[in-house]
Amino acid sequence: MSNLTNLNNFTNKIAPALLENWMRNYYFNTEIDIGSSGVENFSLAQLYELTNLTQEELNSVVFHDSSSLGNLELRKVISSRWSNGDPEQVMVTHGSSEAIFLIMNGLLNTNDEVVVLDPCYQQLFSIAESIGCHLKRWQLRFEQNFTPNIEKAKSLINSRTRMVIVNFPHNPTGASLTKKEQDDLIDAVAEVGAYLVWDAAFADIVYDGFPLSNPNLRYDRSISMGTFSKCYGLPGLRFGWCLASPEVMTRFIHLRDYTTLHLSPLVELIAQRVIERADDLLKIRLQQAHTNLEILSKWVEQHQEFVEWSRPQGGVCAFLRLRGISNSEAFCHHLANVHKVLLVPGTCFNHPSHVRLGFGGATSNLNEGLSRLSKALVTDRLYVH
Ligand SMILES: Cc1ncc(COP(=O)(O)O)c(C=O)c1O
Repeated sequence: MSNLTNLNNFTNKIAPALLENWMRNYYFNTEIDIGSSGVENFSLAQLYELTNLTQEELNSVVFHDSSSLGNLELRKVISSRWSNGDPEQVMVTHGSSEAIFLIMNGLLNTNDEVVVLDPCYQQLFSIAESIGCHLKRWQLRFEQNFTPNIEKAKSLINSRTRMVIVNFPHNPTGASLTKKEQDDLIDAVAEVGAYLVWDAAFADIVYDGFPLSNPNLRYDRSISMGTFSKCYGLPGLRFGWCLASPEVMTRFIHLRDYTTLHLSPLVELIAQRVIERADDLLKIRLQQAHTNLEILSKWVEQHQEFVEWSRPQGGVCAFLRLRGISNSEAFCHHLANVHKVLLVPGTCFNHPSHVRLGFGGATSNLNEGLSRLSKALVTDRLYVH
């Protein structure tokens, strides 16, 4: 029998996805989820209520193929809501994960210099690493409230930079940019002609002011991604999109012809109805996110002896630092196995003294999760190594 680890294939070139591994172990084996990064999920019955989707419409779906970019009407509504109205600059994808895969594999070459955030959602740098790119890390530091320092980013960008990859509001810290900082970043990337990859997974949930707009509106070498998995409570629909110039799209279609081909017409129909009523869905979850953030803030205040944090500016994740716990993984195993609570250890983001806490779920779920977390921190912590 061949030894699989000796094969020089793609699986051996790309690092295992640490967060996905953690979720595989605990997502279905815990009772309370305060680890996931999205808002409370919607059911199909709720979509009938909240959108114009009808059962008759679903019954009339014929399972024909769709097109490589996605059906035209759907691309029009996406572009009107998140970009300039041009459907030729939209590709619908199986979540934004597929878009990330197409972007990295479609545009990067071995030895390219790539600027990435640290910490960061792993897919945003491990694929580039597997291609043989040189990563330059733009660090968000806890000591500086995870504030992105644009001058620091500028110092990493130069004529060799092929791509700058960012995600604001940011997973896992909830940090974000001001409009001016976004403009400065776009200018710095445009000056060297690199690609700007803008992961807008959490764009529509911000706590002060308005969501940042899509950089494609200002810079044609921007590529941005969106998803229903985070702000829209539909991770299981596996729906996302990518906005880029038609030339870039051609490269993505080239790759997609060997992988997923296109989306299901069923998914496309539901997605279209959701986007037509996106504000209504968003309003409900945004209100809940505000309420939950206040609950979490109070909880952190009451547990200062055990945790410290930087209050998120957007999204529904906070990256807490556990005082006196240098490796949060053992603590998170304990929390999952004994208290049946899902929390994500900072080891999944290469920051072992932190944990990612997702506060987007039902308020009752958050309250129960925090109460069990208190118990683990206050009562059990001496037993956790
Ligand atoms: C920043 C970021 N981008 C992209 C994704 C991919 O999500 P999906 O494929 O469900 O859209 C995630 C998932 O956690 C994420 O956190």
